[in-house]
Amino acid sequence: MKVLVTGCAGFIGSHLVERLLKEEFKVIGIDCFTDYYPREIKNKNIESFINHPNFTLIDKDIMELNEFPKVDFVFHEAAQVGVRASWGKNFDTYVKNNILSTQKLLEYYKGVKIRKFVYASSSSVYGDVSIPMSENLQVKPISPYGVTKLAAENMCYLYWKNYGVPTVSLRYFTVYGPRQRPDMAIHKFIKAIFNNEELIVYGDGNQTRDFTYVDDVVEANILAAKSDLVGEILNVGGGSRVSLNNLIRLLEEITCKKSKIKYVETQKGDVRDTLADTTKIKELLGWKPEINIKEGLRRQVEWMKLNFQ
Ligand SMILES: NC(=O)c1ccc[n+]([C@@H]2O[C@H](COP(=O)([O-])OP(=O)(O)OC[C@H]3O[C@@H](n4cnc5c(N)ncnc54)[C@H](O)[C@@H]3O)[C@@H](O)[C@H]2O)c1
Repeated sequence: MKVLVTGCAGFIGSHLVERLLKEEFKVIGIDCFTDYYPREIKNKNIESFINHPNFTLIDKDIMELNEFPKVDFVFHEAAQVGVRASWGKNFDTYVKNNILSTQKLLEYYKGVKIRKFVYASSSSVYGDVSIPMSENLQVKPISPYGVTKLAAENMCYLYWKNYGVPTVSLRYFTVYGPRQRPDMAIHKFIKAIFNNEELIVYGDGNQTRDFTYVDDVVEANILAAKSDLVGEILNVGGGSRVSLNNLIRLLEEITCKKSKIKYVETQKGDVRDTLADTTKIKELLGWKPEINIKEGLRRQVEWMKLNFQ
């Protein structure tokens, strides 16, 4: 079986590739190593599989490709990520990497028989709706990033509806674990604790997030791909709704170090709370999160000790 993973050099994409290679899939990865964070970090992400005999890297921007590999499954992880950077002139990049590139892939695969097209959507599509966030709520993104993730999710749905492209969208809730992106809060907090620097918290720190361990996200992708589901949207949430203040306390416990916190103004586009209603994915795919927040944070701290201390 052959699969395509876009964004294969990123945080989640690289974990997915490792898992697919373990399951003996032939994996083709596309990544253009955008400069949102350093290439050296992405090179490290792919270090364990770049020379694997069943892995091929296409080091290209999706928008520059006119053809895509003939595969059984597509996992579309590539995107311009980051809520706070998505305002102003940067929006062009979000439109290109999130909407146009998804449309380009779907246009291509509408003419080719594939078994599943799994799209990496985001809890950011919800905006500040009431929690728990359920897939049938009316979504109202409050960041430009969220708008582009929702547009691409809608695109996946309409290519299924009109052309039968077998898409499934998974709405990930704040993913963490080894290789977490350097712009994400847990990564920044651990680094600051190691270096005895101030931890910058936007707002009062009582905002909450449903943190999801990366291996659980990978498992949801595999289950979605192998299932008969099509045209569906599913939440993927770890069930660990923790405030940032409590998250920092957990990190202090794990690292055995005290932190210094600096509270600054809330950032535009950040939602107050997230919590996934995971009833649907439990019922339809039998998925449930396996890694609790303490264990997941411990694993991320161990990885960061080896790479950033
Ligand atoms: N990390 C999270 O908490 C989270 C939460 C919700 C959704 N998601 C979604 O999961 C996916 C993966 O996120 P991540 O955290 O691993 O991000 P990441 O930035 O680490 O990985 C994305 C990768 O896509 C590549 N890329 C971007 N545009 C491209 C293009 N046009 N052509 C080829 N490659 C391109 C980048 O170089 C990068 O390596 C994204 O779609 C993101 O929106 C992530």
